[in-house]
Amino acid sequence: MAFGRIVVVGARGMLGQAVMADLTGKGYNVVGLGSDQCNLLHDAEAIHRILALLEPTLILQTAAYTDVDGAERNPELAMAINKDGTQKLAEVAAQLDAIFAYVSTDYVFDGHTDRPYLPEDKANPINTYGRSKLYGEVWAKESSDTHYVLRTSWLYGRHRKNFVSMILESAREAKPMTIVTDWIGTPSWTGNVAHAIERVITSGAYGTYHVADQGAVSKYDQAVAICRAAGLPSDHLKPVSYKELNFSAQRPAYSPLNSGELAMPSWETGLHAYLAELATVTDRV
Ligand SMILES: NC(=O)c1ccc[n+]([C@@H]2O[C@H](COP(=O)([O-])OP(=O)(O)OC[C@H]3O[C@@H](n4cnc5c(N)ncnc54)[C@H](OP(=O)(O)O)[C@@H]3O)[C@@H](O)[C@H]2O)c1
Repeated sequence: MAFGRIVVVGARGMLGQAVMADLTGKGYNVVGLGSDQCNLLHDAEAIHRILALLEPTLILQTAAYTDVDGAERNPELAMAINKDGTQKLAEVAAQLDAIFAYVSTDYVFDGHTDRPYLPEDKANPINTYGRSKLYGEVWAKESSDTHYVLRTSWLYGRHRKNFVSMILESAREAKPMTIVTDWIGTPSWTGNVAHAIERVITSGAYGTYHVADQGAVSKYDQAVAICRAAGLPSDHLKPVSYKELNFSAQRPAYSPLNSGELAMPSWETGLHAYLAELATVTDRV
């Protein structure tokens, strides 16, 4: 592959592993780093040292502090990783003349809209995680013109426990679960997102993108659809308003992302692909 070397920082996360599998499968020269090899809490010199050795053409940051409620309780850590850590990594990328690609989130938006968000819509985060990720976007953009900001949303994939796997588990055990009806967004399968990220970051068309499966659904309706797609009962799911639950972080009530010309599959297609993938993995065990 003529592209050069891609270094994924955060390669052991849910999306990081999907991206590694996608890029490796397509024959790219790719190196993945976990937090034990490249830690965003370390100083810039240490980050520079490890990355300089690898001579990257592009650095893709999937690493982040991702605990949305935890960020309210520990804002210093969320900011140290997502804001200051991204600044260090973006600046190191610029020093090494590497393209910088930064994965961000629908939570940079406030949810006060009646249509899926476009990349150029104004960000206005309403929780600490969203603010920390928006700072990350700012550093990605400030550090160099050769950057990509890739916003995605409501991720699930086989490499980590997630909302879909949790719903499947609860359905199999008929364990009652309360699920929110008034958060609407776009569930996105990491397989689809990884595939689209590869297309964007090798395009040379720098800028901000929405990279999410398409459509809009509430958490509750998503949970019912998951059970139905897996042939499991859903009567253990109890609809509830988020106001009745005690989340530390506020979430945008409506945050679907419009992925425009990327022509991403629907969230239902992503769900079926994920269930098929799970079945293959289980068969092999
Ligand atoms: N999950 C979602 O629903 C969602 C939605 C929208 C956007 N996103 C964004 O998508 C990206 C991937 O999310 P994900 O769900 O795949 O995350 P994840 O599974 O929680 O993985 C995050 C990774 O970040 C790494 N990390 C954490 N602290 C670090 C540090 N100090 N230095 C270096 N690496 C560190 C961890 O590395 P180790 O495992 O090696 O310790 C971990 O593997 C993130 O940027 C996130 O903000 C996620």
